[in-house]
Amino acid sequence: MQVKPNIANLPAYKPGKPVEDVKRELGLTEIIKLASNENPFGCSPKAKEAIERELSGLSIYPDGAGVTLTNALAKKHGVNADQIILGDGSDEIILMLARAYLSPGDETIMADLTFSQYKHNAQVENAVIVEVPMANGKHDLPAMAARVTAKTKIIWVCNPNNPTGTIVTKNELVAFLDQVPQNVMVVLDEAYCEYIEDPTYPDGLELLPKYPNLVLLRTFSKIFGLAALRVGYGIASADIINDVNPIRPPFNTSRVGQAAAAAALEDEAFIAYCREQNKKGLQFLNAAFAEMGLTPFPAYGNFIMVDVKRSGYDVYDALLRRGIIVRAGFGANYIRITVGSQEQNEKVITALKSVLQEVEVKV
Ligand SMILES: Cc1ncc(COP(=O)(O)O)c(C=O)c1O
Repeated sequence: MQVKPNIANLPAYKPGKPVEDVKRELGLTEIIKLASNENPFGCSPKAKEAIERELSGLSIYPDGAGVTLTNALAKKHGVNADQIILGDGSDEIILMLARAYLSPGDETIMADLTFSQYKHNAQVENAVIVEVPMANGKHDLPAMAARVTAKTKIIWVCNPNNPTGTIVTKNELVAFLDQVPQNVMVVLDEAYCEYIEDPTYPDGLELLPKYPNLVLLRTFSKIFGLAALRVGYGIASADIINDVNPIRPPFNTSRVGQAAAAAALEDEAFIAYCREQNKKGLQFLNAAFAEMGLTPFPAYGNFIMVDVKRSGYDVYDALLRRGIIVRAGFGANYIRITVGSQEQNEKVITALKSVLQEVEVKV
């Protein structure tokens, strides 16, 4: 059987190493996983109650379009319900956008170190990938705008950017949107937006009315702590949502996921708690890195990427042997650490201090 040539050499998504694998391979019992930007505080108790309530309905298909959740999101964000599409995680919204708008040979622009799924899905559609180098871990929006051609269909902007954690400011984003032709879609991935209080951070929702080519991506996997249930969503003009909807598989979000997400959305106290804890965690990690003479990128989400001045893979390996899973592979000397609970953050720093003594400095 011959797979399509553009799929033949495409690697499958490689997630952060699963806890069970590490336990088995290294014979460890206690593992701290700070590799996938998950919420260390779990999810809202209200979401758990909603999940319990749905358990009696597992034999019945969910509402395919997730009308109750969509309406709740529309009300929360001050948009119309026809401006929202639900996905099996925001990963699936990325897939649907690529499928709906990228034909073979179309160009799509992204940063050279950003969330892997933009490139992956563009490759699946056989589009031409235009990767623009980041400037100090930040999207270089003027350089990205300069790469637009008559063939450009989608530009991906991840804000804050995974894995570097940096943001583009509202002024920078507006200047960029003013430059991008209206027939080129700009996808603004705001997976971590709920963590951010910085006044310069743009809220995509405020920009939507002025820029009909803008699509926002959001998720329940991060601050809402529901990564396992796979619920994400896109917000855009009704026309764009209408274009994408035929791609959406039937029942792509589950009954349990929809109910949990709707309940989680209303638990503002839980969100505020997680935001506050994350802020303290970032302060702790930044202070610890400064003390160790390491330079992280300015972090705005629930993760931080730091230059460890030696092979990131070696540091990753040495941490793994101490039962701590982080992420490497984003540039030779970098690791990315998800902000954990205070106890986890302290453990990762203690382990990192000892690892840095062990792993040779790269000159
Ligand atoms: C920037 C960004 N976008 C999208 C996603 C996908 O999230 P999900 O599919 O769980 O909604 C992630 C997950 O880590 C991410 O970091």
